Amino acid sequence: MSTETAAVCPAWSIPGYLEVQGDHLSINGVDAIQLVKEYQSPLFVFSEARIRDNIARLQRAREVVDRPIKFCYASKANSNMAILKTVLDAGIDVEVNSGGELFKALRVGFRPDQIIFNGTSKSNEEIDEAVKAGIYAINVDSVYEIDLVEQSVARLRAQGEKVEPARITLRLVPEIGTRSHLGLQTALLTSKFGISSSEVLTAFRRGLQNPDAIKVCGIHIHVGSQTPDVEPFAEAFKSMWEHLVTIHQETGHTLEHINLGGGIPVNYLRDRSQADQLPEHERDMLGADLEPTAVMKEALRVARESARKANAEHLLDQITILLEPGRSIIADAGLVLTTVRNIKSRPETGDIWLLTDAGYNIMLSMNNYKWYYHLISASRAGQPYERDYKVAGPLCDSGDVYFDIEREGRLPDYRRLPENVAPGEVLALLNCGAYSLAQMFHYNGRPLPAAVLIKKDGKPDLIRRRDTYEDLIVNDLGY
Ligand SMILES: Cc1ncc(COP(=O)(O)O)c(C=O)c1O
Repeated sequence: MSTETAAVCPAWSIPGYLEVQGDHLSINGVDAIQLVKEYQSPLFVFSEARIRDNIARLQRAREVVDRPIKFCYASKANSNMAILKTVLDAGIDVEVNSGGELFKALRVGFRPDQIIFNGTSKSNEEIDEAVKAGIYAINVDSVYEIDLVEQSVARLRAQGEKVEPARITLRLVPEIGTRSHLGLQTALLTSKFGISSSEVLTAFRRGLQNPDAIKVCGIHIHVGSQTPDVEPFAEAFKSMWEHLVTIHQETGHTLEHINLGGGIPVNYLRDRSQADQLPEHERDMLGADLEPTAVMKEALRVARESARKANAEHLLDQITILLEPGRSIIADAGLVLTTVRNIKSRPETGDIWLLTDAGYNIMLSMNNYKWYYHLISASRAGQPYERDYKVAGPLCDSGDVYFDIEREGRLPDYRRLPENVAPGEVLALLNCGAYSLAQMFHYNGRPLPAAVLIKKDGKPDLIRRRDTYEDLIVNDLGY
């Protein structure tokens, strides 16, 4: 192959999905610059093919364990209706965290038996909606919440509704640490989630008191998001397994499922050219490349060993495993295209500043967790990246920057891009598909961006229209 025709394959590229074509970023063969021309900037772009590939990668875990696995996409990661539809069409189930997400899941076409419902502070109305729909499981977060579910069944029946006993799963908090951000760890006793190990048996006894109203069907732990190691998953699974055996021994009740939660990590550092600027623990966490098959294999190995010792293999042979993956399905299937709107030099520091139109109001994690999203030039994707820039968003807040304003080094101080970036150049923040669109807000009166899904036939589909100014005031009253 001559040098002229040799394909440029930067470290961030993913064959068939994220590529360089004609020096532009191409997403499933669609030119990113054309997309911005058509749909304006900033713009979220998602890939149906990548979502399906990510789901298929998770489903391969089914081949290494001898128990059925039910995958419930954690819709909090991104509950845009077209994304939910894509997940539904790919053949998996869904996890919701509020009445609103339950409404969306049902509206898009998930059957009630495909839905599980988490949440620390469910209202009576939300519990009623879940009970009425007859969903697969309400994951209860405290002993008190079992009372609420029981009351909901009684209330609905008193209103003449014919509701089945509510299926509940008990969410445990077993004190398992991970190497993720503290804000993303959810199995520590200092976290707000779940029922303490010391209360588990009481909770199960309470749950079993009124089988006409409540059916206790499972046990649940979510160790946290972006968990880079196998061990916390295996430890969590073992802990749930041991509780399941104890419950059986103490009450004779056999649980149907063990829910291992979400947390399979995404490799945010496929391109490691700026990774040396990150602290080592951050690098390990963000660059994790953990195969779901490895997680499931180890979790089942540990549980089987424990089952053998307890002479309880027959119990293990009855369970279904639930997983609640969010990030690992949608994070690297989405990116943000943003345009440089302004440029300035600071002769005193020697810095060149690029001011973009994508702020933390559309990528909240970049601000609250100092989350690293790799930045490239979509206009000149194949050129050498040789110049360091300070990069910032448009919001009236010193914290709206693409580096760590608090100087804790959690983000690189500079972003490396081609020479001579100028206003009008389109940049792309990669791996932005999870916990971004779902967390957007209108700060500074900024209309929220459009989102496009590149369908598997390679055609872009508008899945969220850009806000108008009218959208900014649609809920304001009294003026
Ligand atoms: C209970 C529960 N399940 C699943 C998830 C999804 O986690 P992830 O997106 O890391 O897969 C979360 C998010 O942290 C969660 O709180």
